[in-house]
Amino acid sequence: MHFWLAVENDGLVNPSNGLWKYSCGLPFQTRKVPKPIRHSPKGCLIHSFLHRFEMKISSIDLGSRPIVLAPMEDVSDPPFRILCKRFGADLLYTEFISSGGLIYDAEDSIQKLEFDESERPIGIQIFGGDVEQVRQATHLVDAVQPDLIDINFGCPVKKVVCRDGGAGILRNLPKMAEITKAVIDAASRPVTVKTRLGWNDESIQIVEVARMLEDLGVQALAVHARTRSQMYKGDARWQWFKRIRDEANLTIPLIGNGDATSPQRIEEMFETTGVDAVMVGRGAIGNPWIFREAKHYLETGELLPPPEWSERLDVVREHLLLKCKWLGERKGVLEMRRMYGGYFRGFRNASAIRSAIMQEFQFDGVMEVLEKCEREEYSGDEPFVGKRVTGVKRAVLPVPVSS
Ligand SMILES: Cc1cc2nc3c(=O)[nH]c(=O)nc-3n(C[C@H](O)[C@H](O)[C@H](O)COP(=O)(O)O)c2cc1C
Repeated sequence: MHFWLAVENDGLVNPSNGLWKYSCGLPFQTRKVPKPIRHSPKGCLIHSFLHRFEMKISSIDLGSRPIVLAPMEDVSDPPFRILCKRFGADLLYTEFISSGGLIYDAEDSIQKLEFDESERPIGIQIFGGDVEQVRQATHLVDAVQPDLIDINFGCPVKKVVCRDGGAGILRNLPKMAEITKAVIDAASRPVTVKTRLGWNDESIQIVEVARMLEDLGVQALAVHARTRSQMYKGDARWQWFKRIRDEANLTIPLIGNGDATSPQRIEEMFETTGVDAVMVGRGAIGNPWIFREAKHYLETGELLPPPEWSERLDVVREHLLLKCKWLGERKGVLEMRRMYGGYFRGFRNASAIRSAIMQEFQFDGVMEVLEKCEREEYSGDEPFVGKRVTGVKRAVLPVPVSS
């Protein structure tokens, strides 16, 4: 639980835009908080109150400094979401679902609508550049009763943007408004948007976009702090979060996204940018513990030790099992392959273990490799040691295959 002291006339409050600077014993941050409730006896200098800041999207309470699982194609499926939830993710988003796929009854799109009650609060993300299709798809999404419906205005992939889907719509803001309005009108629950800074460096309009989306009735905005042209290159430009906060004068929550890949980076994003929530994507792939670790770090300033080797293997086994139940054995085994890099990163013999798993096409075969790991009998080039190796080069983060 976090309590903050708000002080007026002390350079800590900006009455023009309602933003208050507050502190919880750490560097000051800027955040919108309710008006102070108690005046000092002298009537001016100090308005102090104890306030527990809780972030809400509409009436959905996400607690203080929530950490959100990003929508990720072929990653943020029910098996992975369930694990992330267990390790502390405060809000989950599904991978994006094509609105065309939904209305034409494509089996894989329909399957992506499924979620377990235990995953709540959950947002289902849709994309599409055809207003009528998106409207109809919204009715289908609404019918399965997620907590939120999210519109993807950020996907950079060519085949999506060329039809005004994803980040493509950043070149046509009137149509972005039309799509947003269609979704809000068709939905009986809160609508959120995830987008990027702009199409390219020459056309960054995120401040105007944020203002427009709030005025249309969007209930929270997630921003991946890169342009579409950047794709996944270069650093995410967190300085834009502060500009969005200050210049768009948002009252809805702003969710920061991009390169929050460790507990320290998550805390840094909270501390330096004024975002209300941090969304984690690649940092969670093969690493669902990031939510637990980040929460602990936010609360205590201390890093938890990495999960024990046996816990790691248990989670890999469970993830594999859930994937196979979800997708069928063959597809489940193949799709799990992109996870092992994260699960074994930084461990001796990681590449030998991965290459042994890659040769397996059946659940039992992968389980056998994992059993050998458990018994520390794995016959890689070096004797297997289930301990983290220090001084490992930072891994290159994965990018979506289709981009
Ligand atoms: C494998 C993969 C799939 C992704 N799929 C989606 C998606 O379906 N919808 C979406 O809005 N963003 C998608 N993204 C983008 C992420 O949600 C996120 O914005 C991006 O990875 C930056 O955050 P990060 O640095 O924490 O990874 C995807 C990213 C990756 C790596």
